[in-house]
Amino acid sequence: RNFKRQTECRIDISRLNAPFLSIYDSLIPPEEEKGKQKQLLTLLEKLVSKEWPEARLFLYGSCANSFGVSKSDIDVCLATEDPDVNKSDVLLKLADILQSDNLQNVQALTRARVPIVKLMDPVTGISCDICINNVLAVVNTRLLRDYANIDVRLRQLAFIVKHWAKSRGVNETYQGTLSSYAYVLMCIHFLQQRKPAILPCLQGMERTYVVKVDNIECAYFDQVEKLSGFGSRNRESIAQLVWAFFNYWAYCHDYTNDVISVRTGSILSKRVKDWTRRIGNDRHLICIEDPFETSHDLGRVVDKYSIKVLREEFERAAEIMQHDPNPCVKLFEPY
Ligand code: CTP
Ligand code: MG
Repeated sequence: RNFKRQTECRIDISRLNAPFLSIYDSLIPPEEEKGKQKQLLTLLEKLVSKEWPEARLFLYGSCANSFGVSKSDIDVCLATEDPDVNKSDVLLKLADILQSDNLQNVQALTRARVPIVKLMDPVTGISCDICINNVLAVVNTRLLRDYANIDVRLRQLAFIVKHWAKSRGVNETYQGTLSSYAYVLMCIHFLQQRKPAILPCLQGMERTYVVKVDNIECAYFDQVEKLSGFGSRNRESIAQLVWAFFNYWAYCHDYTNDVISVRTGSILSKRVKDWTRRIGNDRHLICIEDPFETSHDLGRVVDKYSIKVLREEFERAAEIMQHDPNPCVKLFEPY
């Protein structure tokens, strides 16, 4: 496959900066959306505190990690005082409470991998998923948000990659393609690897933030305001980065041996992680290490059919970036 690998972009890529940036701008949520999210969170806090006065609500996912596009659903984590509560009981009770307060489409999904209650708030029009005690997600949301504050090119690249993945139907974990969370980690890792680096490896630096969650120690350098000029020696533009990102996943990544790792800011080997064979449903056909749950491969949802779909989509995108006269349209064409 590597025969197609391009070491440099032959077209004049700089002409694509303006159109990519305008796509990015059009995806940024307007300020008023934040206000509506706050309003819904306040309502939920009020309802929850009546039943569980000690519980706390946290936003996580794209509404809190700065990778949320306009009109996204919000993800909320209810952290109970007792970490070992029966999640199904809490979710069913919560669903009752929400329904009595006229929230719509209330549904408790107690058997899902991450059990949640879904709801739609008719006042703000926002849909919301509430999970119980998924505190690691709150912490990894914070890590992603901190990375986003170091260099704006991360947010630009991730918006474009997410938009591409949604348009092309490869952002569906239940169909064996990757989550948005996985795509953002791929973008962070990619920017850590540029020469010169555009992002540092926060977990390899002085530990200014440390918490222990579910017996996992989560620690990293979180004083990112001190890192604002970090990537400035690298002058690559968004168009160059989009080109290089797809070129990397189409032709340069070693799918047989490599694991990408934001935690170490490097590539690890599948052999060292013991991710070389299928165990149960985990196949490790594309390996993305979770930054905190290091035994967790975000590529484990990918099967032998969907890996082909994914790789063909990366190749399609790389080809378009290399040869198409109008990549900003073609890249996002519905599949
Ligand atoms: N998450 C996780 N482990 C996963 C998938 C998700 O911990 N395997 C957590 C992460 O905190 C992530 C959040 O769940 O930020 C939401 O995941 P996802 O829906 O993939 O990402 P969003 O950023 O919410 O993207 P979207 O805009 O597509 O909703
Ligand atoms: Mg989400």
